[in-house]
Amino acid sequence: MKIGIPKEILSGENRVSATPETVRKYVADGMQVLVERGAGLGSHFLDEDYVSAGAKIIDDVEELYAQVDLILKVKEPMFNQTKNKHEIEMMKEGQYIITFLHPASPPNHSMVKLLAKQKVTGLTLDGIPRISRAQHMDALTSMSTCAGYKGIIMAADSLSKFIPQLFTAVGMIKPANVLIIGTGVAGLQAIATAKRLGAVVYAADIRPDAVEQAKSLGAKIIDTNIPADKAIGEGGYAKSLSEELLNQERVALLEAVKEADIIFLSALVPGKVAPILITEDMVKQMKQGSVIVDVSIDQGGNCELTVPGEIVTRHGVIINGIKNLPGHIPNTSTTMFANNVYNLVKYLTKDGKINLDLNDEIVKGILVTYNGQIVHEGTLEAMNGK
Ligand code: NAI
Repeated sequence: MKIGIPKEILSGENRVSATPETVRKYVADGMQVLVERGAGLGSHFLDEDYVSAGAKIIDDVEELYAQVDLILKVKEPMFNQTKNKHEIEMMKEGQYIITFLHPASPPNHSMVKLLAKQKVTGLTLDGIPRISRAQHMDALTSMSTCAGYKGIIMAADSLSKFIPQLFTAVGMIKPANVLIIGTGVAGLQAIATAKRLGAVVYAADIRPDAVEQAKSLGAKIIDTNIPADKAIGEGGYAKSLSEELLNQERVALLEAVKEADIIFLSALVPGKVAPILITEDMVKQMKQGSVIVDVSIDQGGNCELTVPGEIVTRHGVIINGIKNLPGHIPNTSTTMFANNVYNLVKYLTKDGKINLDLNDEIVKGILVTYNGQIVHEGTLEAMNGK
């Protein structure tokens, strides 16, 4: 099987879907790997290292797409300005692509339809179920870990104060207060990072399990005042709250919000728009110079004032809505991503070829287009407006 690693074309995207280390593993498994020239440079992996690992470097991406059976990407296929063609137009019938397709998201619907039309089998990494046997393939979890870490580092950089408590010749400097709202994968990593920097860390989540995990990392818990039966839905995930309950939660959070130097927002119900937990009125009551990092921005954000993709100051508060945080820590995020993808490819491969078991829970979760049809339930529901 031939595997293709194109250079990502989204502006500012420094990640790539394979490292020299994973190329070496594919080659040891009997695959051939074609890498577009310069594909790894953004994450500090050199062409010569891919070659030493056994890859062939290709100058023309069209040639790469024409030759391979399986394409590995980080971002969904998009229009390639240099080629004046959509990436999917360079793909061919019977090919497979593994990437983050985010197929249910409305801006991606036409791309998914194009994949089906081109008879390319699309497998999406955001569909990997969060079950223990899939953990080593779960790129979304890896990327949330990167976002939790980098989000706190960015917030610390924007804050005009020390984070740790310091004893100086002019007296004691108090440690910064960091409030984490939503303690899933990203939030837990944010707690750990803020603790390492020496902050006093507060945390809130509506799921009791998430609260327990935050507590075990040393965070002080802010009670959201939401009864567990209203907070937990199918499969133990959080449920969307009614506007009344959200209001109740905002009231419960307000005192901690007023005291915070940094607020890290990562509250999300899978597949839903992110709940607004910090309103403009609450921002007005925050300390001057405090910082909000809203990593739920791809789902609309948890703060009413977050501007997607930008860092803005509103009412004296710095609000960071930077997207693609993992792309700001590209060497580690690429290493994690590439290993997750390698594990998935290995899982899906039998006798040197992709072999999809359509009854398998993991395959069901990730399969988006197959035999010219869109087969992904969540995508079809979103397309039909359900
Ligand atoms: P997750 O599903 O593991 O965690 C979300 C948490 O939010 C859950 O623990 C849930 O109980 C909690 N939650 C839901 N409703 C809540 C409410 N009303 N109040 C308090 N907590 C609530 O998700 P994960 O992987 O940690 O991702 C979190 C967010 O970070 C997502 O929006 C994801 O897209 C985003 N993210 C952003 C990146 C970026 O570059 N900006 C990169 C990676 C993730």
